[in-house]
Amino acid sequence: MNQIQTDTKDRIALITGTSSGFGLLTALKLAEQGYQVVAAMRDLQRKDELVRQAEEAGISSKIHLMTMDVTHSGSIAAALSAIVDRFGTIDVLVNNAGFAVGGFVEEVSMEEWRRQMDTNFFGLIEVTKAVLPVMRSQKAGTIINVSSVSGLFGFPGYGPYAASKFAVEGFSESLRQELLPFGIKVILVEPGSFRTPIWGKGMDGFQSSEASPYKKQLDEVLRYSRRTAETAPDPRQVAELIGRLVNKRNPKLRHPVGKGIQSLIIGKMLLPWKMLERIIAKSLSGLK
Ligand SMILES: NC(=O)c1ccc[n+]([C@@H]2O[C@H](COP(=O)([O-])OP(=O)(O)OC[C@H]3O[C@@H](n4cnc5c(N)ncnc54)[C@H](OP(=O)(O)O)[C@@H]3O)[C@@H](O)[C@H]2O)c1
Repeated sequence: MNQIQTDTKDRIALITGTSSGFGLLTALKLAEQGYQVVAAMRDLQRKDELVRQAEEAGISSKIHLMTMDVTHSGSIAAALSAIVDRFGTIDVLVNNAGFAVGGFVEEVSMEEWRRQMDTNFFGLIEVTKAVLPVMRSQKAGTIINVSSVSGLFGFPGYGPYAASKFAVEGFSESLRQELLPFGIKVILVEPGSFRTPIWGKGMDGFQSSEASPYKKQLDEVLRYSRRTAETAPDPRQVAELIGRLVNKRNPKLRHPVGKGIQSLIIGKMLLPWKMLERIIAKSLSGLK
């Protein structure tokens, strides 16, 4: 074993999907806070932005790039074995890698449904399972699962994404209770819409055809998504929240963050479903 000499106070954080968005910003945030950050990404050719920002902030020595595609078992196993050999420990896991398949249920191919679940749900499970023996043997650790407002409310046009994030929510509830006796904390971060590259990627997936029976609704959802993407807040809010959560001794399970998310949660708790449907339909059709 060729473990690198880290300061005894150095804590190790593994973050998936660090090539852009929340993952990149969280890698910078935790490195600023003194963590040794294993910044995993599926394609190291996409490392330049993280490397540039880390250099600018003077924290390059705290960031260790690693290849990990969360849909490939071999890639996860190889990364985990490299991390354990090098650092001997993992204190924080941020399951962040993900993307959004857009489209109406009937029109999304089964291949796309499976691709969505493979990354956002099964990938997250497999990385978690790989990290658990290490955290259990330490009797400590924090696992942060990046869910979404779509894990709390299923919006039309985002069925696959909502299904994957609702699955992450249920999984995290079970996991949290299973791991409490071992001193391992499980936390859900539930962002509303934030300005990251995910929007461009998700909207490319919409199959809008003139012949579609869903064309009118699809166009409304697309318009709404574009508007949301343009006006969404700064994603650093999410990285800052994660930066605070890793220091909490006794964090609660759910941490919603973002514009309008508290009202949506309260609305879902208090309002009849039919009324919520009307509010959503009105917001979608109201945009021209
Ligand atoms: N932005 C929002 O409004 C929002 C709201 C709620 C929740 N979220 C969640 O936040 C997380 C991060 O998304 P983001 O908004 O920061 O979007 P993003 O900038 O597109 O980042 C997603 C990251 O996941 C990576 N990724 C995708 N598939 C992967 C795979 N198979 N293996 C490893 N990495 C993979 C991407 O890598 P590539 O660069 O190679 O594609 C990228 O690094 C996601 O789980 C998303 O669902 C986002």
